[in-house]
Amino acid sequence: MSALIVERNVPLQPLNSFGIAARAAALVRVRGEADARALLADAQLRAQPKIVLGGGSNIVLTGDVKALVLKVEVPGLRVAGETARAVIVEAGGGESWHGLVAWTLAQGLPGLENMALIPGTVGAAPVQNIGAYGVELQDRFHELDAIDLQTGEVFTLDAAQCGFGYRDSVFKHTAAQLGDFGLAGRALILRVRLALPKAWKPVLGYLELERKARETGIAAPGARQIYDWVVAIRRAKLPDPAVLGNAGSFFKNPTVSAEQCADIIGRDPTVVHYPMPDGSVKLAAGWLIDACGWKGKSMGHAGVYEKQALVLVNRGGREHPATGGEVMTLAKAIQTSVYERFGIRLEPEPTVI
Ligand code: EPU
Repeated sequence: MSALIVERNVPLQPLNSFGIAARAAALVRVRGEADARALLADAQLRAQPKIVLGGGSNIVLTGDVKALVLKVEVPGLRVAGETARAVIVEAGGGESWHGLVAWTLAQGLPGLENMALIPGTVGAAPVQNIGAYGVELQDRFHELDAIDLQTGEVFTLDAAQCGFGYRDSVFKHTAAQLGDFGLAGRALILRVRLALPKAWKPVLGYLELERKARETGIAAPGARQIYDWVVAIRRAKLPDPAVLGNAGSFFKNPTVSAEQCADIIGRDPTVVHYPMPDGSVKLAAGWLIDACGWKGKSMGHAGVYEKQALVLVNRGGREHPATGGEVMTLAKAIQTSVYERFGIRLEPEPTVI
């Protein structure tokens, strides 16, 4: 049995990308099944409410955490097999997502390049079905192994069982919200397997990638080229959490009916919108927030990033960090003004703890 160390009164500031200062009453690092089993073998720890923490890049801490924090540190990167159409790559839940993207390309396995530089861990990627520049995790997903924190049972889920949606999955819902199968707070993702297509084709539909292709005259870029473009685009418009604390996009892009969109276009012809296959329309939340004049504004130490209004930032750095309360107060003020002007309710994207 592995020796399980329970750390007490642990500062969480280095463990969340916003850089919010809070403490965990107790924290356990989980490096594999053995650690999870040892944890569940302890009657007291087993009974405690738990929070699973990955890279901390999609959370807002609104206070000290009383629940037992399980920091996922499961390592490992390997080619795990192949199917007729894909090479299967497996990564431990604690690996860095971007590290995995770079590693697959170094192995000559394209497919993840559009999702380069997304902060966070591999284990957190399925939770919110990460995505960028035209590719979502679910497009490359094969299976994952998770451990049930109530029973200690290790189980495998395929894509359908993960219930992926736009920045959504079964891991974001509790059982009460989603029939019997909500897994929020119940499952710890140990390993993720991805299916990288053998017949790789570049995904270039996203406006900014099309622009790069035009500007450089490279009409048929390889995966490395796309990776370099995505890294450059992200560096130019998204703040580096190591420099300016943030949790990526703070709100989801809302979906409205075609009628509602036509109504908004009638009043604001420049609204950025994307027609969806089902007839609904997705609106750019960043545009809506920008239109309400929020770009560059601050409330306390929480602010709206100058170059992308969808990203809220911690302007107080490590010394005088924004509190989770300040971030949420700013978020609510933004929601109110977008609702008053457009009649649209923005939904926060990170998990509020
Ligand atoms: N826009 C503005 N003003 C702003 C921000 C955006 O007018 O302040 C306009 C842009 O000009 C653009 C449109 O809104 O026409 C969309 O902006 P952008 O391309 O930056 O993408 P996004 O919709 O804001 C989404 C994801 C990002 C992902 C990018 C690229 C969500 C919530 N966000 O952002 O994901 O990197 O597309 O694919 O879906 C994340 O989820 O944390 C994240 C960063």
